[in-house]
Amino acid sequence: MIRISSYIVGLLLSAASVVYAEGSSYFPPVYDVMATPEQDKERIQKFFRDRFPDLPWEEFANGMYAMDATVRQNWEQIEEFPPYEPVVEEGERLWSQLFKNGKSYSSCFGEPGVVNQYPKWDAERSTVVTVPMAINLCREENGEEPLKYGKPEIIAVNAYMAFKSRGKLTNVVVPVNDAGALEAYKNGKDFYFARRGQLNMSCAQCHFGTSGMRIRANVLSPALGQSSHWPAYRSKWGGMVSIHRRFTGCNKQVRAKPYPLQSEEYRNLEYFHTHMSNGIPLNGPGARF
Ligand code: HEC
Repeated sequence: MIRISSYIVGLLLSAASVVYAEGSSYFPPVYDVMATPEQDKERIQKFFRDRFPDLPWEEFANGMYAMDATVRQNWEQIEEFPPYEPVVEEGERLWSQLFKNGKSYSSCFGEPGVVNQYPKWDAERSTVVTVPMAINLCREENGEEPLKYGKPEIIAVNAYMAFKSRGKLTNVVVPVNDAGALEAYKNGKDFYFARRGQLNMSCAQCHFGTSGMRIRANVLSPALGQSSHWPAYRSKWGGMVSIHRRFTGCNKQVRAKPYPLQSEEYRNLEYFHTHMSNGIPLNGPGARF
C-alpha cells in the first residue's frame, strides 16, 4: 500500500504537466528503426522499469490498476464477482463441443492454455495469426463456418482459452530469419509510433510518454503488460471486447479512422505490441472500466 501511495503522489504532481508537443523528445531511446525485435523488447522493458522503478514486474499486467489505489479498489471489488465468469463457462462448453466431423478445437490447439504464444507468425500463410483468427482457421479446416469477429461466440472461446492460460508468461516469437515475419513486426512497430488522426498523436505518446499520468478520469496504463488480459469485460461498453476493439477505441480517441477487427494492420500492431511484453504473466480475461 505504501508503495502505491508514493506512486499516487508522483502522479498528482505530474498530472498537470501532460503535454503532447510536436517534436517532443519522449522516445528517441525507445524507437529505433534499425533495432531487432529483441533489442526493441530490451529497450522498451528498460524504459518502463526505469519509469516505474518500484512497480513489481507482474503488476504491469494490471495496467491502470497498478497505478492508482482508488481505481484498484473498485477493480478488486469487481473481481469478487467477475463479470467475465459466465462467458468463460460458455467458452468451456463451446470448446468441448464436437464439430460435425467429430473433432473439436483440441485437434488444432492441443490444449486451451496456449494464448501466451500468440500472435504467431504463420510462415505458410505468410501472415500474423492472432487467437481469434486461429479459432476461425481451426473451424474452417474442420469444415465449420468461421465465426464473426467481435461477436459473443468467438469471444467466449477466446475467453476460456485466456482463462486456461493464466500464469503463463507471454512468449511471442518473431523468427529473425524470416523476412516476412520481420516486415510484419516492423509494420506493427511503425503503426505504434506513427502520429495519426486529427489530434496527430501516436500510441506511444499516451502509453509511453505519459503513462501513469491522468487523462480526464483515466490513468494511462503503460504499454508494457497491456496485452496480458484479453478479451476483457469493459464496463463502459457493457460487454467483453477483444484487444482489436480496444485498438479501435484508442484510434477514435485521436479522431483517426479505425481499422476492421482482425485486419492485417491490427494483427501486425498486436504482434509488435505483445512481443514487447514477453515475460509478463497472463491474467486474462480481464475487467476494465
Ligand atoms: C489520447 C491518448 C491515447 C492514445 C493516443 C492511445 N490510447 Fe490507448 N488508451 C488510452 C486510455 C485513456 C485508455 C484507458 C486507460 C488505460 O488503461 O490506459 C487506453 C487503453 C488502452 C489499452 C487497454 C489497456 C488495458 O490495460 O486494458 C490498450 C491495449 C491500448 N490503449 C492500446 C493503444 C494503442 C495500440 C494505441 C495506438 C493505436 C493507443 N492505445 C493510443 C488513451 C490513449
